Amino acid sequence: MTTFWGPDLDQLRDTDPEVADGVLAELHRQRTKLQLIASENFASPAVLAAQGSVLTNKYAEGYPGKRYYGGCEEVIDPLEQLAIDRAKQVFGADHANVQPHSGASANIAAYFATVAPGEKVLAMSLPHGGHLTHGMPINFSGKWFDVVSYGVREDTEVIDMDEVRALALEHRPKLIIAGWSAYTRQLDFEAFRAIADEVDAVLLCDAAHFIGLVAGGVHPSPVPYCDIVTFTTHKTLRGPRGAIILTNERWAKAIDKAVFPGTQGGPLEHVIAAKAVALKEAMDPSFKGYAQRILDDIRALSDGLIARGYRIVAGGTDTHLLLADVTPRGLTGAEAESRLDAAGMVLNKNAIPFDRHPPAVASGIRAGASCVATQGMGPGELTEVAALMDRALTGSDDDRAQVRGLIGELVARFPAYPEAGPVHAETMG
Ligand SMILES: Cc1ncc(COP(=O)(O)O)c(C=O)c1O
Repeated sequence: MTTFWGPDLDQLRDTDPEVADGVLAELHRQRTKLQLIASENFASPAVLAAQGSVLTNKYAEGYPGKRYYGGCEEVIDPLEQLAIDRAKQVFGADHANVQPHSGASANIAAYFATVAPGEKVLAMSLPHGGHLTHGMPINFSGKWFDVVSYGVREDTEVIDMDEVRALALEHRPKLIIAGWSAYTRQLDFEAFRAIADEVDAVLLCDAAHFIGLVAGGVHPSPVPYCDIVTFTTHKTLRGPRGAIILTNERWAKAIDKAVFPGTQGGPLEHVIAAKAVALKEAMDPSFKGYAQRILDDIRALSDGLIARGYRIVAGGTDTHLLLADVTPRGLTGAEAESRLDAAGMVLNKNAIPFDRHPPAVASGIRAGASCVATQGMGPGELTEVAALMDRALTGSDDDRAQVRGLIGELVARFPAYPEAGPVHAETMG
């Protein structure tokens, strides 16, 4: 067998012990704390191997069969084509561009293909759960486009499609974005489509967060309704850091031109190969079980927190994440984040809709179940986590130290990357 020449920790240790120590310290942190950040996951060893390979050495500006560099035909073109074909197959799309370096890059390309600077865009407001690239004033999206924001209703904390329609009719945006970073209910893609058709707008879905649930068949797909779908590959989809854009025949050329040469240079072929691996893992029947476990887990956590007096935004969740208002327990989001971290539970403070605190303080926390479900934890464990969370949030420093120990025991029972022996076949692909 050919020597792999891939990730070799001993070599890294010899060359750069500081970085080697950092890598090992991060592995230790990921293994020994409970990872509840909604945008993270544990990529499989197969994904890591493709990403850490010699494919990183190859320049391949262009697309399979039409490159601006030699040496691509033999290996790189078939590999990128494999990633494209798998993305089309998993999501039933006409066209896939697998080159975006990140979710933000994918969105930049989607804007570049569909709107000119100064034109109107309608997207979800950041304080209500939208993303920076959906029109935040100091992001390129807010600086270069005339962004009008829709939000959630104050009483239900759910997107009000009547408001979306009224804003669309009033402002006649060229582009409408459906998608979010912190929202717990499913979007009504059919209603978004009808509104986009009514005002002749392009409909983009930013499915960065929930795309793994779509791949696992536990969340409706935006693909049949949207002109363009962007998504990250490293959240619920459990692949390498990066993104993919799906589109139809109408937008295929414009999207490809917008990615390269419009907004990116050479594609990261090592990451594209790792995206192909993740897509293969998502096609495995076990991925459906994984996606369902994410939903079961987050609901158990949500129910457990509700039972202990926390207010769950929008009354619950249909996705992989929850937003908990911690103010009924006399805390801010920032305080909650730091108390939980002290107890070995890693998540982020998050604004809740109509928050009275500034974003750096916030009234809420956001928790996701993608990592714990990958580890194989089920609803029973997440019910236990809800109790431990409450104890860490409301107890003393002593309580937090004790919870830290209990979390250590819990994650040791469900290791993210086992020390030895075979990787958990079902949970790690
Ligand atoms: C909805 C949404 N879009 C885009 C992105 C950006 O992805 P990246 O961090 O890969 O640029 C995120 C990241 O969290 C996101 O939540």
